[in-house]
Amino acid sequence: MAHRWTNDLTRDDVTPYKDYLNRRQLMAGMTGLGLAGLVGTGSAAAATDLTPTSYEDITSYNNFYEFGTGKGDPATYAHLLNTQDWSIQIDGLVDRPGDYKFDDVMKEMTVEERIYRFRCVEAWSMVVPWNGFELKDLLDLAGVQSEAKYVAFETLYRPTEMVGQRLPTLNWPYVEGLRLDEAMNPLTIMATGIYDKPIPNQNGAPLRLVVPWKYGFKSIKSVVRITLTDYEPPTSWNQAGPREYGFYSNVNPEVDHPRWSQATERLIGGGVFAKRQDTLMFNGYEEEVAGLYEGMDLQRNF
Ligand code: MTE
Repeated sequence: MAHRWTNDLTRDDVTPYKDYLNRRQLMAGMTGLGLAGLVGTGSAAAATDLTPTSYEDITSYNNFYEFGTGKGDPATYAHLLNTQDWSIQIDGLVDRPGDYKFDDVMKEMTVEERIYRFRCVEAWSMVVPWNGFELKDLLDLAGVQSEAKYVAFETLYRPTEMVGQRLPTLNWPYVEGLRLDEAMNPLTIMATGIYDKPIPNQNGAPLRLVVPWKYGFKSIKSVVRITLTDYEPPTSWNQAGPREYGFYSNVNPEVDHPRWSQATERLIGGGVFAKRQDTLMFNGYEEEVAGLYEGMDLQRNF
């Protein structure tokens, strides 16, 4: 794998999303099958008409309950978190379990720019120019064993610095999970930057998951542990409200939250008079991911 990360990324250091798609299409062309269906022209068009939300909005309107429940709390308190010497424990059904130092991991990963829609279950949305690497590449580093079916994620637990963890708002540490095929999908990334700058603490430094076709709470921040399992792992919001937050949590305008509609969303940064916009099936990534859920009842598996 190419070693392309610096802590001071410029536009020249990352692969623009359009080039990424072209490269994938090229690869698809070479192999003839498979990926051609995965990355059609529709997704390329969808990727290019996205106007990123401002850096200021992305980094000041946050959900990160480890620092409080207010939208401004993470930006106010997350500087207290020390992210030096970060490592990620990768264990469970892998060939090479262990503590992976963040700096060492970055030397192995290819960081690209991915401009993704980001849709919170609370019915607001943004467009975020992430920098990150595919989760698949990290899992390949650890060597996923054939019995593995799910991937569990865990956020740091450190109440001395994560002041919101002193209150029982959620069961700490924050945990999340994906089915293995969702985790291996090329759209699923570990984000390490925004707008070509290292990811700010309030957005989940030094690395957080981003799954663009799912509600934002699946995109767990400040990850310290990744466990490969053969069972569906517990998830924090599902534990807090099992009837409101399911394991899958795919963005779906036709499946309402018990307390509000999911048909439309408020785009952050649009101003007070901005019209709400329609929410897209799988957040606009239907072409890429609908196949993962073929034959599944999405009302029941919400
Ligand atoms: N991860 C952790 N550890 N703690 C959290 O409270 N909030 C989730 C998700 N990841 C959260 C988390 C929710 S509800 C959303 S919408 C997104 O992070 C918000 O990401 P952003 O602040 O970068 O927009």
